[in-house]
Parts: sequence; structure tokens; C-alpha cells
Amino acid sequence: MTKIFTDDDLQKCCELFIGVFNGSPWNDKWTSETAHTYLQELIDSKRFLGYTLWDNDLLIGAVFCHMKNHYRGDEIFIDEMYIAPDYQRKGHGTELMNEVEKFAKDNSFISITLLTGKGKPAFDFYGKFGCKYLEHLAFMYKRIV
Ligand SMILES: CC(C)(COP(=O)(O)OP(=O)(O)OC[C@H]1O[C@@H](n2cnc3c(N)ncnc32)[C@H](O)[C@@H]1OP(=O)(O)O)[C@@H](O)C(=O)NCCC(=O)NCCS
Repeated sequence: MTKIFTDDDLQKCCELFIGVFNGSPWNDKWTSETAHTYLQELIDSKRFLGYTLWDNDLLIGAVFCHMKNHYRGDEIFIDEMYIAPDYQRKGHGTELMNEVEKFAKDNSFISITLLTGKGKPAFDFYGKFGCKYLEHLAFMYKRIV
């Protein structure tokens, strides 16, 4: 069952976030503290939108987004999206994205945007959902430390 995110979900969202992204293929190094700080910052975003997905009282997925203005209208940027490993590839990710898309359509948003790793499984997932890879755009980065 999909629910709108509430602050009471934060602890469970942190635990699941660590379980997913510290595992393959991301192999991140999140700690409880860094994950909590990171997700809290997303939630504090002025125009945050989040949904959680539940199997009874077990959290099995979450999506964290924020709304952005554009001259053509508002868009939704997906900041984080994750499904519990045991529940992946069973349609749950699509269920969460459909919820975001429903919100976008119901509120006359113009688009959904996101960043993901080329060649990572999520790339195919977003492609199947209908997201297009824009070859004329480049994500640029300068390492400081
Ligand atoms: C990526 C993720 C959100 C997809 O959610 P999901 O519930 O597993 O995906 P769904 O079952 O809804 O998949 C729908 C379609 O996406 C594609 N897809 C999903 N997972 C895939 C994978 N591991 N490899 C290739 N294609 C995949 C498939 O086309 C799939 O349809 P099919 O199963 O009929 O072939 C989920 O697997 C996940 O949390 N992964 C780890 C975290 C992550 O990568 N998050 C995104 C970071 S940007």
C-alpha cells in the first residue's frame, strides 16, 4: 500500500535506505547518522513530496522528490527512490512512480526529472517507466576533496 510520507516514517526510511544503497550495485557507505541527515535535508526542502510503500507494517520502498518551478510550469525532481531488495522486480517501484506521476498529472505539472547511473539497473527501470535519456545534457562535476 502506498502512503504519503509523514515524519514518523523517517527512521524506517533511513534503515531501508542504508540497506539498499550500501548493497550492490551502489555499495555506498552510509551510516545511520549520515543517512538521517541526508534524508532529513530532502524532507526539509520547501516543496518536498514523498511516498512510502508498505507490506502491512513493513516498509518496502520510498520515493523522495521536490517540486521545482520552470518557465513552462512546475516539474518534479526525484531525489531518491528505493525498494527493499527482497521486493525488487515485482512491480513495486513502478507502483511508487505511478503515484508520483498521478500527483504530477492531477496538479498539471509539466515533467518528472531525475539523475541515475548509466548502466545501473535503475536506468532500465526509469526507461521502462517512460523517462528519456537526454543526450544533449551532461551532468558535470568538479571534485574538491
Ligand atoms: C530500481 C528500483 C527502484 C526498481 O524498482 P523495482 O520494484 O525493482 O522495479 P519494477 O519491478 O517496478 O520494474 C519495472 C521494470 O523496470 C525494469 N527493471 C527493474 N529492475 C531492473 C533491473 N534490476 N535490471 C534491469 N531492469 C530492471 C524492468 O524493465 C522491469 O520490468 P520487468 O520486470 O517486467 O522486466 C529498485 O530495483 C531499487 O530500489 N533498486 C536499488 C536502488 C536504486 O537503484 N534506486 C534508484 C537510484 S537512482
